[in-house]
Amino acid sequence: ADPDPLQNFCVADLNATVSLNGFPCKPVSEVTADDFFFDGLSKEGNTDNPFGFGVTQGNVLSFPGLNTLGLSMNRVDLARGGINAPHSHPRASESVVVIKGEVLVGFVSTSNVYYYKVLTEGEMFIIPRGLVHFQYNVGHSKAILLTAFNSQLPGAVIVSQTLFASNPPVPVEILTKTFQVDDGVINSIKSKFA
Ligand code: GLV
Ligand code: MN
Repeated sequence: ADPDPLQNFCVADLNATVSLNGFPCKPVSEVTADDFFFDGLSKEGNTDNPFGFGVTQGNVLSFPGLNTLGLSMNRVDLARGGINAPHSHPRASESVVVIKGEVLVGFVSTSNVYYYKVLTEGEMFIIPRGLVHFQYNVGHSKAILLTAFNSQLPGAVIVSQTLFASNPPVPVEILTKTFQVDDGVINSIKSKFA
């Protein structure tokens, strides 16, 4: 989904003060093989949280060599019963490959059709750009997924956090009317994200 590059590479200078679409390039004379290398996905993410979920992002911010190249990759770790809660990526489609375990992967289309599949090792599912999706570990042990994106910085809109944990908060009245429930239900959900 990102624009095409205009040069071989443009290793991001994340500290540049100029503001543009993407990042300016570090001088070619200072570029080394290390700029094209990232070992972050080799490490297990911390799943010690109520969701049993850990994500390690290999995007332009953690791996500046991706700048202008239109792709990135994450590692998702799920504890037994763990979930990567419903979210969407405004700037990329996502391919999900299960490396270890058994994972229910699903998304919902703009026609409100729910598409899903239980994947095992080596299997892949595609999440079309912008659609809300999740991954849920339905196996009997930990699960590992690699997720690839056609953007250097896909962005993530996490539905629960967007509505219940924004700063400043979305007014409770919006949420009670949206979900047709009373304040108590909304405040109970909000308290989980405090
Ligand atoms: C998984 O859905 C991810 O966004 O990495
Ligand atoms: Mn995703």
